[in-house]
Amino acid sequence: MEMAPKKWINGFSRLSKAAQREWVAEQYGADSGQLIMRLAGFDHPDKRTQNGLDNFAENTIANFVMPLGIAPNFVIDGKTYAVPMAIEESSVVAAASAAAKYWGTRGGFKTTILGTTKVGQLFFEWDGKEALLREVLPQLSLKLLECSKPHTVNMDERGGGVKGITLHSFPELPNTFELRGTFDTRDSMGANFINTILECWGSSLPRVLKTCLEFNAKSAVEQLAPPRVLMGILSNYTPECVVRAEVCCHVNDMGQGAGGFTSWELSERFHQAVQLARVSPYRATTHNKGIFNGIDAVVIATGNDFRAVEACGHAYASRDGQYRSLSQSSIVDGQFKFWLDIPLALGTVGGLTKAHPLAAASLEVLGNPGAEELMRIVAATGLAQNFAAVRSLVTTGIQAGHMRMHLQNILTQLGAEDAKRPEAEAYFADKTVSVAGVRAWLEG
Ligand code: MEV
Repeated sequence: MEMAPKKWINGFSRLSKAAQREWVAEQYGADSGQLIMRLAGFDHPDKRTQNGLDNFAENTIANFVMPLGIAPNFVIDGKTYAVPMAIEESSVVAAASAAAKYWGTRGGFKTTILGTTKVGQLFFEWDGKEALLREVLPQLSLKLLECSKPHTVNMDERGGGVKGITLHSFPELPNTFELRGTFDTRDSMGANFINTILECWGSSLPRVLKTCLEFNAKSAVEQLAPPRVLMGILSNYTPECVVRAEVCCHVNDMGQGAGGFTSWELSERFHQAVQLARVSPYRATTHNKGIFNGIDAVVIATGNDFRAVEACGHAYASRDGQYRSLSQSSIVDGQFKFWLDIPLALGTVGGLTKAHPLAAASLEVLGNPGAEELMRIVAATGLAQNFAAVRSLVTTGIQAGHMRMHLQNILTQLGAEDAKRPEAEAYFADKTVSVAGVRAWLEG
């Protein structure tokens, strides 16, 4: 038998948290005592809260802390919100706040829910003909729905549940089929609900399909092997769970951008930047990253799955075959309009939303919205973030703002006293900010 590689461990997950910390620190730490102290320094003083945090994942050796900021003055569909944002990048919250205020005095953000349908896929192999499956599909669907009834009653009562089942095949993969379920999961993100149903359909499929074929007296079916189920899983691509957020004002009301541009110049430069992000995938990626700066921050703050939201958003950005900006703009008859259509599969019940104390706090700050209201808030924040970034880019450039925040981070990193901050800001106002430069200034 081969020797285990160095630093290999069996049974790590069975060690206590203290023993896990010790092992990691001894094997990988530069100074093990110091590392253990650093990890322990972020323990929550309340044991129950700490226990809850530990149980979200496996092998948790510490709490990874991120700032939770607030972007106030978001007027969305006539209601004013203070939006919680969990993000580590300097200037994102400041930019969202500035854009919120700007649009708050120009009618605010308007949103429309374009759909709330979610999707799940059950894949299987079968040796029979697709036409035969299509023939029995209505009956097959009814029988599968009967099987999953015990799992859907509560959701049905809330007006959600399974909305349909369609059949799909793949020219590249003969004999491979997909039963695609569409779902309404109300205020939950719905991953567990959808996956439970799909697995239930998967285990029932061989029996149910046999019954349907027999009922339809398909004699040749006798010789066919039962379908071989491969897997059932929700799809994170939800192009029909989409919200639109938009802002609009007369070009004359756009105000002068920093950099001395007139409101018309500002509007046109902005529009040109959005057009570029529509046609250049290189630019679109950065442009959309700016949108997700805002979106992810609220998604994380409210205990939602940012990986799912990102994966879906980027797939959606490529829906016509080319990766494009998610936001669009127009200038028609003197009206400047800027909007974002974004798929957002979010929940405000279940998952981490209430279990994580800060997710629950963020939802409370938002007035405990339902999933649709949260979609509106998240989309508006993404649009605000995008507006702030593009406006900076086409006027002053983003480095001026970034560097101010960067200076603050360096001062923190170097342990500067708070009293030194205004002085440092004044000194570095017209200079390049670097760690070496700030250190020299502090020591000088
Ligand atoms: C930086 O985090 C985000 C931006 O690059 C977005 C953009 O370029 O639109 C400023």
